[in-house]
Order: sequence, then C-alpha cells, then structure tokens
Amino acid sequence: MVHLTIDGTRVQAKEGEMLLKVIKQLGIDVPSLCDHDAVEPFGACRLCLVEITKQSWDGWKKYVTSCLYPVEDGLIVNTQAEKVVEARKTLIDLQLARCPGSPEIQQLAADYGITQTSYEPKIDSDNCILCGLCTRICEHMGFAAISTVDRGPDRRIASPLDEPPPDCIGCLACAINCPTNVIPYTEKGNKRTIWDKEFELITCSKCGRKTITRDFARALSKMRDIPEAYFEVCDACHRAETATNMGRIAGWSRREEAAS
Ligand code: SF4
Ligand code: SF4
Ligand code: FES
Repeated sequence: MVHLTIDGTRVQAKEGEMLLKVIKQLGIDVPSLCDHDAVEPFGACRLCLVEITKQSWDGWKKYVTSCLYPVEDGLIVNTQAEKVVEARKTLIDLQLARCPGSPEIQQLAADYGITQTSYEPKIDSDNCILCGLCTRICEHMGFAAISTVDRGPDRRIASPLDEPPPDCIGCLACAINCPTNVIPYTEKGNKRTIWDKEFELITCSKCGRKTITRDFARALSKMRDIPEAYFEVCDACHRAETATNMGRIAGWSRREEAAS
C-alpha cells in the first residue's frame, strides 16, 4: 500500500494503481474522456492532467496525465491547480473546435466556462475526438474490427476499406462507450445495423425479448466454450430459472430434514 494526499485528503492506494482511479474513487470530478476500466489507459485526451509534488521535491511541481501515472508514496496531488485548470480549458477549447456539434463536448466546455471556441471550428466535423476508445475496446474484446485510418486532419475511425467490417459481430461496445456518442447504429425488429453491417438479433425463446446478435452469440460460444443454445434464452430468464431451481432444491432439503 502507498499513502498520498489528493486535494488535501490523505488516502491509501494499491501499489501500481493509476492515479486517476484513486482520484475518481474519492468522487473528485476530473474529465477523462479516453479512460475506461476495461482497457489499458492510452493518454489520448490529456484532460485528466493533474499537478503533483512531494515534500522532498522542495517546491518543485510536475504536471502528469493521471490515467497513466501510477500512485507513489508521499505524492501530493492537486487536481484543481490553476495551471491544470488553464491547460484543461485550452484542451477543451481545442476539442470544441474539433467537435463543435457535440453536445457532450459543449457541456464539458460549459462546465469550464467556455461557450464558444477561440479556435477555427472544424467544418463538417464528425464530432469524433479521436480518443481511440472504440478501437481499443473492440480489440480488447478480441475482434479489432475497426481502426484509425488516414493522417493529420483526415484521421478518423473506420472499418477496413470503409466497407462492412468482416470481423464485427455487432456487439455495440464501440458505440455505447464512445464519449461523444458518434457511432451510429439502428435496431428494427430483429435486425441491428452498425458500421453498415446488418445483424440478426436473437429473440429469447422464453420471454420474447431481443438479446444479442447471433454473430456475438457464436463468438462468445467459441471463446468461452458455451453451447450456442445457451444464448437462445436471455440473461433475465436464465437468472429466473436459476432462482426457481434453487428454490426447489431448498424446498427438497427442508422436506428431507423434516422427514428425517
Ligand atoms: S460492434 Fe463491431 S466494431 Fe463495435 S465493438 Fe463490437 S465488434 Fe467491434
Ligand atoms: S468514434 Fe468515439 S470512441 Fe471512437 S475515437 Fe471517436 S470519439 Fe473516441
Ligand atoms: S483520461 Fe487520461 S488522457 Fe484521457
């Protein structure tokens, strides 16, 4: 365990833990658009910047991206230092110029008192902040169906050759976790479409609810060695069935105890 001080509060943390995680556990609001518990930190948005120092540093201070900085014993962290807030404002201002139509970035900017970007706003922006969360999550799940393509101002997230990605299984993890909500998908009846690829949604054989895509079920079945038939029933019905069975077993044991 290491001991550190964050915004005046003494805390202890596990060795190797990233500073941002500990900051968040304290309920301190530090913007962190490219961070997600499921994947390794990447340091793309730089918004989680904080000021650090130590008693032994003799007043010397350092500015670090907290999602990539492991906790250290004796660290004194200031998440709201003047320089930090100013740097965050500049970064948010730049994001607002890149994504002028994003409600999420507009809200973040407003939280920092920015109503209009001081840079040239990008025309026809796709409102993607290029945080790479979608590609990292997809890769982490074992599919790597999408990637970052092109360079400079044309950099963007795309499927191979801009065609329906062969490796996509329609799980939606990229879309649901996108911080600016810019990956479109539709669901109509038992069809889901994402990245221009259409998927069949499984209908729970017990309650009729639409569950995951058939491609996702196939992939999970292979990865976790679960029979494909398992996915014909939704999670809620599986849980209800387990509860009923447990209740039956408990009833039998009570009856057996009473009889003995
Ligand atoms: S929907 Fe497709 S691209 Fe998105 S995370 Fe799932 S597999 Fe990857
Ligand atoms: S599409 Fe969303 S998740 Fe992917 S890089 Fe852009 S902002 Fe990040
Ligand atoms: S959350 Fe740390 S750089 Fe984005």
